[in-house]
Amino acid sequence: MSDLETLKSDFEAAIQAAADNEALEAVRLDALGKKGRISEQLKQLGQLPPEDRKQAGQALNILKDQIAEAIAARAKTLGAEAMNKKLAEEQIDISLPIAQQAQGFAHPLSRTIEEITAIFSDMGFVIAEGPDIETDYYNFTALNIPPEHPARQEHDTFYLMPDEAGQRPVLRTHTSPVQVRTMQKMKPPIRLIVPGRTYRSDHDATHSPMFHQCEGLVIGENIHMGHLKGCLIDFCRAFFGVDDLPVRFRPSFFPFTEPSAEVDIGCSRSDGGLKIGAGDDWLEILGSGMVNPRVLENCGYDPEQVQGFAFGMGIERLAMLKYGIPDLRTFYDSDMRWLRHYGFVSADMAALHTGLGGE
Ligand code: PHE
Repeated sequence: MSDLETLKSDFEAAIQAAADNEALEAVRLDALGKKGRISEQLKQLGQLPPEDRKQAGQALNILKDQIAEAIAARAKTLGAEAMNKKLAEEQIDISLPIAQQAQGFAHPLSRTIEEITAIFSDMGFVIAEGPDIETDYYNFTALNIPPEHPARQEHDTFYLMPDEAGQRPVLRTHTSPVQVRTMQKMKPPIRLIVPGRTYRSDHDATHSPMFHQCEGLVIGENIHMGHLKGCLIDFCRAFFGVDDLPVRFRPSFFPFTEPSAEVDIGCSRSDGGLKIGAGDDWLEILGSGMVNPRVLENCGYDPEQVQGFAFGMGIERLAMLKYGIPDLRTFYDSDMRWLRHYGFVSADMAALHTGLGGE
């Protein structure tokens, strides 16, 4: 028995002395491994006289359990010690300056498109898209701009090579063809906007051969000019963030709307600066009108049953006015200094979509 007592205290001392998991594992093998000392003793039980065997066996098994328990307890302690050590060593010095990280910026145009879509989404509009390369039919004819109509010249169209049928595809000169494409596919009620690229052969400080428009289309029963006005007044005020922004509807002409109205917002100009809000001057910002019954018919609708309004705005122009960017050409120069000055950080972009009526 005294043998076992010695064995026990030897192992207990070794377990306590084990400084890490590796040392502890060595003790475990020495005691309980296949060739460990306790296992060896268990194997030798058979050589004992039968009357001693039972008692010796019991004593050995108890020792075996005690050693296993002691090893488990030591492993736990070692684990806790390792964790505490790690925590103490890994203390973070929050006063250290952070490493400089490259910061990306959203282009003012992306920002403006996000703002426009956020406002119209809150009003229940959905986003539609159409191709940049259009047929003459969708870009002009279906919109009540027949061949030889002077509006075709005004649009400074880029024509592509004729196809097999001799038809020349065009780079769409406005987003209005998407009105026709969606009306032919959908049944009223329709409430959509179409932000997208448009092309005209024109290049100066306020014109670029590629630019962006956002079309709007609302079709339903009993839609009238009052809806058009209410919708666009709300939009202008929300977009420029001026609650009492004066908005004026000025009679105009577009072949695809009748009547048509140009929309102006109030502004004042002093010392060469432009201020949007009540003032003695006006700025034109978009075209609009009631969808021409001929366009409705071209889309298979009965103008006696459904009516609607449409509008179209130049996105660069809105961005220039809102953010005081003087030259349109700089939008496409890819100059990082310009982007750092006029760009937006992504967190501010995410905050735009706050959901219905959100602040
Ligand atoms: N498509 C017109 C343009 O490019 C704008 C517009 C759209 C006007 C819809 C009325 C209705 O100038």
